[in-house]
Amino acid sequence: MASSNLLTNQRLLVTGGGSGFGAEISRQAVNEGAKVVILDVSPTGQDVADEINAKVPDSVVFVKGSVTETAGWEAAREAAVKAFGGVDSVVNNAGWSYHTKPTLDVTLEEFNKTFDLNVKSIFLSVQAIVPLMIKQGTGGTFIQIGSVSHLRPRPGLAWYAASKGTVSTVAKSLATEFADKNIRFNTILPVLTPTGLMEQFVGVGQHDKAGHEKPLGRLGKPQDIAEAVVWLSSPRAQFITGVDLPVDGGRHSEYSYSQETKLTPQSNGLSGRSGLKYVIAVCIGYEGLRGLRAAVHAHTANIMLALDTCAYFFLPTCYSSKAAAHTAPNQLTSR
Ligand SMILES: NC(=O)c1ccc[n+]([C@@H]2O[C@H](COP(=O)([O-])OP(=O)(O)OC[C@H]3O[C@@H](n4cnc5c(N)ncnc54)[C@H](O)[C@@H]3O)[C@@H](O)[C@H]2O)c1
Repeated sequence: MASSNLLTNQRLLVTGGGSGFGAEISRQAVNEGAKVVILDVSPTGQDVADEINAKVPDSVVFVKGSVTETAGWEAAREAAVKAFGGVDSVVNNAGWSYHTKPTLDVTLEEFNKTFDLNVKSIFLSVQAIVPLMIKQGTGGTFIQIGSVSHLRPRPGLAWYAASKGTVSTVAKSLATEFADKNIRFNTILPVLTPTGLMEQFVGVGQHDKAGHEKPLGRLGKPQDIAEAVVWLSSPRAQFITGVDLPVDGGRHSEYSYSQETKLTPQSNGLSGRSGLKYVIAVCIGYEGLRGLRAAVHAHTANIMLALDTCAYFFLPTCYSSKAAAHTAPNQLTSR
């Protein structure tokens, strides 16, 4: 894609740049004029750095290390200072999930690895890089790669979705805390995208089916995520902080839309709890009028007739309206 030089003079630290989103984020950032440090446990980070440097010399430095260890962050920070003079943006991209499976089968090791990779890494990034940004005095940005799964949790990925929900929450909290230092925190929420991690979510051979479920009719591409990262880390987004940005072909919106369409039979006129209240009010009013009339004529039989009439005609209506109020939520979650 043609460059707009959105990231001229910007220095990005991209975690997990050895494959998937991180590799494409690194390519596009350099294409937009940035310098990049890749932090990855895999030596493939060096391959990506070599590939990009072959086109734009001296634009990428690779540091082999883990985002779950302070030493990895310190090494990446020192490399960025030495090669490029500092860090303007951190892209907390490296992440992990266990295979989709019944939650009772998830092991403690898998739970710990999920939160270490997806959440502890952000804690360590803040500890290592925020002081540097404050010292530089020119602000900065942190972009987290979260997941649309925290807006639309699904069975079998509970702890992964929870970890990504934490990512979004933490980013919003940090956005408010460091706003006075002009350090912005935002989270991108990708949808299923064919990378090394996708097989964990949907299994081998399920890609096409997953793609057709999106309103825009396809899976995500690493380029979609990289474009969003470039914009959010650029000065063009200088007034954007504390947001979740779904990059998901409309998947998160589709959920609300489906709720609306599935509610149609109950959503006209008397439906749900408001319908129940209306019918109860009519019952009470009718019964009251009949009772008053009966009292005036002092005919006990009339009072009994009024009560009987109410019970006969309106109690079934109340009951069915109440039942509708209880069944509607089940329909919402049945997809
Ligand atoms: N692919 C999807 O469908 C999808 C959807 C939503 C969110 N995400 C998120 O996107 C991010 C990137 O995932 P991806 O799909 O590109 O996966 P990927 O597996 O292709 O890439 C992950 C990279 O992180 C590196 N990594 C793993 N552990 C590390 C560690 N301890 N320290 C440093 N680097 C480490 C890996 O070596 C790899 O290069 C993750 O946070 C993931 O949760 C992915």
